Amino acid sequence: MKMQRLRYPLIIAHRGCSLRYPENTLIAFEKALESKVQMIELDVTLTRDRELVVIHDETLDRTTNGRGRVMDHTLAELKRLDAGGWFSRRFTGEPVPTLADVLKMAVGRAAVNIEIKPEAYDTRHPEDAVERQVWELLHRQHMTDDVVVSSFDARVLTEISRMERPPALGYLTEGAGLGGVFDVCQRIGAFSWNVDYRYVNRTRIDQAHAMGLRVFTYTVNSRKQILSLLDMGVDGIFTDDPVAAAACLSNSGSEERRV
Ligand code: G3P
Ligand code: MG
Repeated sequence: MKMQRLRYPLIIAHRGCSLRYPENTLIAFEKALESKVQMIELDVTLTRDRELVVIHDETLDRTTNGRGRVMDHTLAELKRLDAGGWFSRRFTGEPVPTLADVLKMAVGRAAVNIEIKPEAYDTRHPEDAVERQVWELLHRQHMTDDVVVSSFDARVLTEISRMERPPALGYLTEGAGLGGVFDVCQRIGAFSWNVDYRYVNRTRIDQAHAMGLRVFTYTVNSRKQILSLLDMGVDGIFTDDPVAAAACLSNSGSEERRV
């Protein structure tokens, strides 16, 4: 699936089908892909031995049976952990996936929003910096046209924007303050502004569109909220329940809209 072939507005499966399956696991992504969602979202960080792994938190405690910081563990150590049992006993044994595992699963089926976690950023810019590794993997797997790489850390995106043939970039923001957001987007040539849904309104969306940016809002699970955001003109909605959101979209009459 090439990014330019996407039909907007997009439903984006946040950490996979994470309302019904353990977030950021292969089963959560597989279920999202089976639902024919156009884009999945995942969070990526580095292990101690500098491998790209898919997990949201800085620590293992909430979503695995391990303890401590992800970045203090090797990939081999993470592979031995259970990332499903915390959610339900049915999913015991689900591993922590690598980014390569998830990309392999998604190729040709959906676009992927790869969110690079700020804690993985290294100001010393090593050869195997997280952003460099993501870029290399995407090029190796011929997936640069099928992804949006996003981050709350503008430095990560700035680095990628300077690389050869960069993928589409999404600048993630949190909180109400918008100072400089559009300047950053312009500077890095962003594809999208990925924003907390509580802080968007029609004016900001129109401003972003005038700059050629897509507006993706996170994380929205209520039907009422989804309908209100669609009405405001957002281009994408991160949701933990992509099946319910798709039903909402098809009832809203906005599925034909092209932004
Ligand atoms: O990328 C959208 C959303 O995932 C950002 O917040 O904390 O869920 O990664 P978070
Ligand atoms: Mg995320």
